[in-house]
Amino acid sequence: MTSSEISAPERIEVQSPEGSYAIYIGEKSLRTLDALLRLHSLSGRAAIVTNHTLAPIYGELLSELLGAPLIAVPDGEQYKTLETVRTLYDRLLELGIDRRGVVIALGGGVIGDLAGFAAATYLRGIAFVQAPTSLLAMVDASIGGKVGVDLPQGKNLVGAFKQPAFIVVDPTLLPTLPDIEWICGTAEIIKAGLLRDEALLDADLYRRDNKAFIDVLRRAIQIKVDYVQRDPYEQNIRAELNLGHTFAHAVEKVSGYTWRHGEAVGFGLVAAARLSYAVGLCEAALPERVESLVSAVGLPTRCSFEPSAVRAAMRTDKKRQGETMRFVLLRGVAQPEIRDDVPAQAVLDVLESLRH
Ligand SMILES: NC(=O)c1ccc[n+]([C@@H]2O[C@H](COP(=O)([O-])OP(=O)(O)OC[C@H]3O[C@@H](n4cnc5c(N)ncnc54)[C@H](O)[C@@H]3O)[C@@H](O)[C@H]2O)c1
Ligand SMILES: [Zn+2]
Repeated sequence: MTSSEISAPERIEVQSPEGSYAIYIGEKSLRTLDALLRLHSLSGRAAIVTNHTLAPIYGELLSELLGAPLIAVPDGEQYKTLETVRTLYDRLLELGIDRRGVVIALGGGVIGDLAGFAAATYLRGIAFVQAPTSLLAMVDASIGGKVGVDLPQGKNLVGAFKQPAFIVVDPTLLPTLPDIEWICGTAEIIKAGLLRDEALLDADLYRRDNKAFIDVLRRAIQIKVDYVQRDPYEQNIRAELNLGHTFAHAVEKVSGYTWRHGEAVGFGLVAAARLSYAVGLCEAALPERVESLVSAVGLPTRCSFEPSAVRAAMRTDKKRQGETMRFVLLRGVAQPEIRDDVPAQAVLDVLESLRH
């Protein structure tokens, strides 16, 4: 396959306080990475950061294509740590990557966060390119400039804002993604649909054989882009992206992280819709619609955890005097509303109604 047989990827522009950058979306666009690096005048030495799962599938080919070395770390959230970042610094130094160098993150959100944090801090920051390979990273994690690592005390406790030079989204990488990871990625797209785009609320779109899936990617990416452009440092409106996430983070935590983030988000969307109805914000049809969609794509709509335990695991900064809490709720599809006055009892009642 020569690059002349690949049509030029579509380009979405993202404005950020550090300047604008592009998201290229297109079939086989990863194979144009060499040309994109040149287009962006990134002529310094490049290193590709990936994991041991992706190295043999895509990493080695990309490494050959670019003539750039591959740095592979173990696969898994448990390796999104400062220790792993330290090993990245060591390799970057060994490889002689200097200030003109570029780090290319080839992987899911874990690799994007890790490699981005290394790029943000190595030599006080070098260029960074995102090549997301998971559905979640394509529509969510790679966009918005948040990078970082976990500490034993909690997830994402150390990090930085680091905008990429560009992002390249290639849907031809998705067929190798395990089903469960695919389903988890759909949770964030359904969330985006509930916030802004009713056309995304159709279970048929999320079949793995959907030939027009690139349209879904484009729409979901555009929604995240709109949010991060309006609120790059997450001071106000970007908080709407937390729809379903107050429940989700709590369920992940109570499950001892045996629930994946996307699964917890699926459940969290159902809970947030029920809560919206419980406080009189929307019609009963909304939670019913959310529940049938979440369940149709294969995400959980029930959990077995004690409501009081889930409530207790909700981040304390979102509780106000223990009585009322802050939530992103929905008046309807594409009508989110941030409310600070949600009674804690209503949260408990919703959790009880979703218990199995
Ligand atoms: N920075 C942000 O704004 C942001 C936003 C959301 C999530 N995140 C972070 O993203 C991480 C979750 O990302 P994720 O869901 O992509 O998880 P992940 O990076 O762990 O990837 C999931 C699994 O899929 C595999 N995989 C990825 N792409 C593949 C492909 N094309 N083919 C085969 N296997 C593939 C990975 O090796 C991994 O085993 C979390 O650490 C989360 O904190 C960050
Ligand atoms: Zn999420």
